[in-house]
Amino acid sequence: MSAPLPIARSVADLRAAIATERKGGRAIGLVPTMGALHEGHLSLVRAAKQRCGFVVATLFVNPKQFAPHEDFERYPRDEAGDAALLAGAGCDLLYAPERSVMYPEGFSTSVVVSSVSTMLEGQMRPHFFGGVATVVTKLLLQALPDKAFLGEKDYQQLLVIKQLTRDLDVPVEIIGCPTVREHDGLAMSSRNAYLSADERRVAARLNYVLHEAIKAVHDGAPVDAVEIEASRHLTAAGFSSVDYVAIRDAETLQPIANLTAPARILAAAWLGKTRLIDNMAI
Ligand code: PAJ
Repeated sequence: MSAPLPIARSVADLRAAIATERKGGRAIGLVPTMGALHEGHLSLVRAAKQRCGFVVATLFVNPKQFAPHEDFERYPRDEAGDAALLAGAGCDLLYAPERSVMYPEGFSTSVVVSSVSTMLEGQMRPHFFGGVATVVTKLLLQALPDKAFLGEKDYQQLLVIKQLTRDLDVPVEIIGCPTVREHDGLAMSSRNAYLSADERRVAARLNYVLHEAIKAVHDGAPVDAVEIEASRHLTAAGFSSVDYVAIRDAETLQPIANLTAPARILAAAWLGKTRLIDNMAI
């Protein structure tokens, strides 16, 4: 059994704990999360622990990144379970602020990243990246870590966060970590808990279809034809609808006609009321 994880609830407590570690010469690693932790999140904590002497995970289900019709209320919450998993993975401190700490009465600033946040997820969920950029900017400024660890699972989010730290001169290195998957390829996600047994079986096809699409592009099939075909395959496999399958430039997420620069395939599709996303390097 690991020792219980210390929990900071206020910015002052977070900064005091971090200041002590800095004085001791330890680098600070930050792992932002919304909880309902799984191996994907824990892989970020382990990556952080390899590179930083003191690892802080954050747990805050950020209301600003959910639209009114989305799953903020039913998003899975289990702070005690999450704290135990974090301690086991080598995390040193959990920062779990109340909503009133992050968004006190009168809060009226938001961080908006243009360019890379306007398409794909940004188009399907227009409120989303504003909420993410605002909360992540706050978390970074509250903790001022040396490095922050984010998953490639949310690839566009990773690019948005890199962009905002560059643009706002936030003194942190953003480190992207590979997607952790179930044995059948399904990317681990807190939202997988919503899937029925039947939906869970279909869910694995998302990653399979992306693999097949990558093969087709490498075999010379035109990018737009591959996108359409992959989308068709998802519907045929049992997805209720497909928001997008897109082959894009890996840095800018702009559409591409061929594979002259590093590219990424990204997809979002619905199984009943659950929305799944995945992406892979091409
Ligand atoms: P959340 O969905 O809890 O994810 C927290 C971090 O874990 C993100 O960086 C995400 O990309 C990473 N992650 C999730 N599933 C993963 C997997 N299967 N493999 C590797 N990493 C994975 O993303 C958010 O929270 C929020 O938007 C947040 C950044 C915390 C801002 O509120």
